[in-house]
Amino acid sequence: MILAKVLGLLLFIGFAFADGGTTNTKHYIVYMGDLSHHDSESAITANHELLASVTGSYDRAQEAVIYHYSRSFRGFSALLTPEQAQQLSESDSVISVFESRMQQVHTTHSWKFLRISSIHQYSQLPKQSESDIIVGVVDTGIWPESKSFSEKGLGPVPKKFKGKCVTGDNFTLANCNRKIIGARFYSKGFEEAEGPLESLGRLYFRSARDSDGHGTHTASTAAGSVVTNVSLFGIARGTARGGASSARLAVYKACWFGSCADADMLSALDDAVGDGVDIISMSIGSTPQPVYFEDANSIGAFHAFQKGILVSASAGNSFDPYTASNVAPWILTVAASSIDRELNSNIYLGNSKVLKGFGINPLKMEMSHELIAGSAAAAPGVPKENASFCQENTLNPSLVKGKIVVCTKDTVDHTSVKSFIVGEAGGVGMIEAYPNARDFYHQFAIPATLIEPQEEKELQAYMATEKHPVAKILPTITVLKAKPAPYMAVFSSKGPNYRSPEIIKPDITAPGVRIFAAWSPVATEDIPDSENYNIISGTSMACPHVSGIAAILKSYHPSWSPAAIMSALMTTATVTDNTGLPIVNSDGAKSTPFDYGSGHVNPFAALDPGLIYDFDTSDVIKFLCSHGASSRQLKNLTRKLVICKNPLTPSYNLNYPSIGVFQMKGRLSVSRTVTYYGKGPTSYSADVVNPEGVKVMVTPPTLKFTKAGEKKSFKVNFTPLKKTKGESFVFGSLTWSNGIHKVRSPIGVNVLSL
Ligand SMILES: *[C@@H]1O[C@H](CO)[C@@H](O)[C@H](O)[C@H]1NC(C)=O
Ligand SMILES: *[C@@H]1O[C@H](CO)[C@@H](O)[C@H](O)[C@H]1NC(C)=O
Ligand SMILES: *[C@@H]1O[C@H](CO)[C@@H](O)[C@H](O)[C@H]1NC(C)=O
Ligand SMILES: *[C@@H]1O[C@H](CO)[C@@H](O)[C@H](O)[C@H]1NC(C)=O
Repeated sequence: MILAKVLGLLLFIGFAFADGGTTNTKHYIVYMGDLSHHDSESAITANHELLASVTGSYDRAQEAVIYHYSRSFRGFSALLTPEQAQQLSESDSVISVFESRMQQVHTTHSWKFLRISSIHQYSQLPKQSESDIIVGVVDTGIWPESKSFSEKGLGPVPKKFKGKCVTGDNFTLANCNRKIIGARFYSKGFEEAEGPLESLGRLYFRSARDSDGHGTHTASTAAGSVVTNVSLFGIARGTARGGASSARLAVYKACWFGSCADADMLSALDDAVGDGVDIISMSIGSTPQPVYFEDANSIGAFHAFQKGILVSASAGNSFDPYTASNVAPWILTVAASSIDRELNSNIYLGNSKVLKGFGINPLKMEMSHELIAGSAAAAPGVPKENASFCQENTLNPSLVKGKIVVCTKDTVDHTSVKSFIVGEAGGVGMIEAYPNARDFYHQFAIPATLIEPQEEKELQAYMATEKHPVAKILPTITVLKAKPAPYMAVFSSKGPNYRSPEIIKPDITAPGVRIFAAWSPVATEDIPDSENYNIISGTSMACPHVSGIAAILKSYHPSWSPAAIMSALMTTATVTDNTGLPIVNSDGAKSTPFDYGSGHVNPFAALDPGLIYDFDTSDVIKFLCSHGASSRQLKNLTRKLVICKNPLTPSYNLNYPSIGVFQMKGRLSVSRTVTYYGKGPTSYSADVVNPEGVKVMVTPPTLKFTKAGEKKSFKVNFTPLKKTKGESFVFGSLTWSNGIHKVRSPIGVNVLSL
């Protein structure tokens, strides 16, 4: 990758010289808001004219352009000097200019855990055919031959679809079918930054075909067909299915080797919105969250939202507070939690004790072998510490031959790589001490397993007392009904929201640990004998679960706005686990809305939420006005001229399905409006759980409805009694209930002064 970067840089400079002697051009995105031209051609001409005003000539403008965005919003990307970029940003018709940066992808049973396979039997609601719903997946492409993308039982492609099956390397028109109805790919932004794909020395397809596995996994999770009796090396055998198993897939490949350039993402989203998909699933993001209108995902998702398309996106795998990505309020941000299936690869010690281990380990170890710590097997001249990590060329083959090597985790080598290193050195097995091992699933070249700190202690104690400690690594067994489940995955990115702390993010959590789904058989980098299905973890896996459920909601409620779908999913989410207690983090501590937002997705309840918190583009504009965007910036965002009205609507008054206030100064009232989605008269009453040190009163405390579609407004009055520490938040909740439906919103407040 480093060599590729150098090559990319060289080519880059070469091109810049050819372009008239400027050596410091970079790839910028020039974003210009809603479409103002009726056809793409006139928009492209206008782009060239605008660009010519800074490059000096129309020809140079044409040369500098990489992408035109002209289907769903306006803009272009081009190679520009910082001075040219600055000049363009001052133009009246430009909303923002920003560099195209790299984003990262956020790397059967999960659906059973959510009980989705019986959703249609349970639900009494009329529904439009789920097969009319199109899920657009922006990712690393797709492996079209997977059984998960069979078109069996599906009718003709929905007429509303305006997409295409773009052919390329090992991808013909025959690779699209009634399941994969569209396939496109975008590489110009990536190649501008990293050099031509050819130069990187890795397997790739210049087409929508997936050489990585990630896109195949997410697409099959969202909308894969039902495939019975599949497994990974016989582990986790069962039925693989997508959430909306008869919905259609439109594939937008914008990521190469796990990285996705902003310029490519924006082009993919421009097309997805233009093609008329219903839901967009995007398991990709940047941390920390960039300014909304200098972020390809936020811009693309804004125009999707405007056109009634929900964008469901992963929060990221960055572990820490403030790291959640895709946190704009017009995006549904998904965190990751566990399911109730564990895959244990345990260790049988010479003293008959069994230690719990985690991993995907199909290989059978026939007999026990001697144990040796990596640190005790250092090659001559290698520090003990290096050998303890089992890094490359640190182990002494004569010491590890025929033994099981115990390694510790470091940040240099990937766990599966270590298993290769140990195997190469002659080791017959590997045990790696790995904090939170249960949240990560790795596959190995030799029998291997991961242990958590408690087991590590026991193992060390055993090894210290025995002269010849021995062990056997057992093949992976599937343990069902594991408790507690769900718990929050340690890696799942957390709030507060880096850009707008008053909008609680992430919004929701869904299965993202040990997820079984389709895979690209050529993605061999991490997995020896790769198969067509794989088990992996990440918010990347959680996001398509929610996208699939959103597709089902859309098929039941075709008229619902993206905000209504978000509201239904969020207000019905659960905050308790399968032991009936509050959802916890991997370390057993109680989770907060900054871990899971409104809670764990509950597909059944979301179909019939009772009340909806709706908002539209004009509400988003008000939010942006109070969020510091200038009228000049917002003017061209939508087709209607935007003027920020004074006084500004405070951003906590966006009609969001959760309630957040940042830096509360004394008493304050938050407004919300709910829409009734039910039959006949009913009455909802408010039930509040006060955040610590804050008193909450809802007025009116009861809302009476007579017919569906009716709207009622209320106020949530806060009286702070105690300041919160620094930027920390205290949490509570508001639940509206009519005895049947429970419509719950988490409350999160930060109190600056009383
Ligand atoms: C965008 O801004 C430019 C410059 O002020 C103006 O000429 C154009 O009409 C605007 N477009 C829209 C759709 O408002
Ligand atoms: C892709 O196509 C080439 C040329 O037809 C062929 O040699 C190669 O085996 C194909 N690769 C895969 C993975 O199908
Ligand atoms: C499932 O597949 C396995 C392995 O291919 C096979 O042995 C088994 O009979 C199959 N089970 C069913 C129910 O088809
Ligand atoms: C030991 O590890 C350190 C840090 O990873 C590295 O800088 C050093 O080169 C290593 N030494 C050997 C002999 O491998």
